[in-house]
Amino acid sequence: MDRIVIQGGAELSGAIPIAGAKNACLTLMPATLLSDEPLTLTNAPRLSDIRTMTELLQSLGAEVTALNDGKVIAMSSHKANNHVAHYDIVRKMRASNLVLGPLLARHHRAEVSLPGGCAIGARPMDLHITALEAMGATIELRDGYLHAEAQGGLKGAEITLDFASVGATENTVMAATLAKGTTVLQNAAREPEIVDLVKCLRAMGAEIEGEGTSTITIEGVERLHGATHPVVTDRIELGTYMLAPAITGGEVELLGGRLDLVESFVAKLDEAGIDVSETPRGLMVKRSNGRVRAVNVVTEPFPGFPTDLQAQMMALMCTADGVSVLEEKIFENRFMHAPELVRMGADIDVQGGHATVTGVDKLRGAPVMATDLRASVSLILAALAAEGETVVNRVYHLDRGYEHVVAKLAGVGARIERVHGDV
Ligand code: EPZ
Repeated sequence: MDRIVIQGGAELSGAIPIAGAKNACLTLMPATLLSDEPLTLTNAPRLSDIRTMTELLQSLGAEVTALNDGKVIAMSSHKANNHVAHYDIVRKMRASNLVLGPLLARHHRAEVSLPGGCAIGARPMDLHITALEAMGATIELRDGYLHAEAQGGLKGAEITLDFASVGATENTVMAATLAKGTTVLQNAAREPEIVDLVKCLRAMGAEIEGEGTSTITIEGVERLHGATHPVVTDRIELGTYMLAPAITGGEVELLGGRLDLVESFVAKLDEAGIDVSETPRGLMVKRSNGRVRAVNVVTEPFPGFPTDLQAQMMALMCTADGVSVLEEKIFENRFMHAPELVRMGADIDVQGGHATVTGVDKLRGAPVMATDLRASVSLILAALAAEGETVVNRVYHLDRGYEHVVAKLAGVGARIERVHGDV
């Protein structure tokens, strides 16, 4: 297996381009199932998760073609006739469950393998199921698959989510676009990726209001037509790379960065003493001299502090001046990066959903293990600032969510390389 080797200590300077959002693209791609006309996505990220979603849609009979080195994804579902999403694909990526709503809306039936748990938590689908049943679907769990049917098609409904689940919101909104009547979804998730999905669905002819708020109203229509849609900037990749100059010192411009996508994150960086400013090309991040200040973090649904940036923020807090408490309120097991950071000399005490980080002067390079996508990149950030050499193993986790991470960091002065391993 490949590994990444970093010699820490270099101050970073230069510019890093930010790609299209993985978590927007993974919900935009299943939207092709809602129409028999072509849907084309531009500004798509080149990631293994996108290749997995491509494989899944093709297994359902959709035509999916990557163009322009993968930055454009041309799709058409006019021949999509299979409604079974098999376990061997779904188990690789939970977001595969986002074909459930579109298949039910268009074909009135779906068989989708339960994704199963993953490293960061059980991640059930009860909220998706309850919402779709409210729209008239019957859904039964059998042999590890959700068997869903909607005799005569889905009907609009009044739905309130018990938790502002991103995936349940996305499945419900996509399903409701072709339902008969009006659907009002309360306690909907407000993430920018959902706003981007609604923009795309509206371009396809859907009638939707309220995206970005807790109440989304969808008027079902007979059919949706094709569209071409640009994938929104990846706010998690953006936040991740903003932490690179923050942790090493230096000044880096994030090309395509948008302040409105990372407001609560930037507020925390400001509290920690990191300068963030807007430029004509994006965002400039500079660490004024002196140590970073320790700050407390609580992860919440958007617009709160993103859980997908918690691991990366913990890396910054490892060498901050003071004690920081990070509370993870979205997932039940999202501190697996902590023991790896401790191997690098960090002082972290994890008790349930709280991690208490006492800043140390310096981290030291060490061999560490990536355990999940965001944990893997928090180890990279720590390694950039650590003294000596760090080897990050199992970097396939990284490839799921970060395109060209070595090139992007080397491009701003990091001493980083990828070593291909055959074991
Ligand atoms: C999306 O996952 C993202 N993935 C995750 O990013 C992100 O961490 C998460 O939203 C929260 O922001 C994609 O968009 C592809 P949820 P999703 O439904 O939709 C529980 C990354 O690193 N829950 O908002 O699965 C669930 O177990 C990934 O890019 C239920 O209990 O997240 C979790 O604890 C990781 N029942 C919490 O809600 C349900 O039916 C949040 O889940 C659904 C969810």
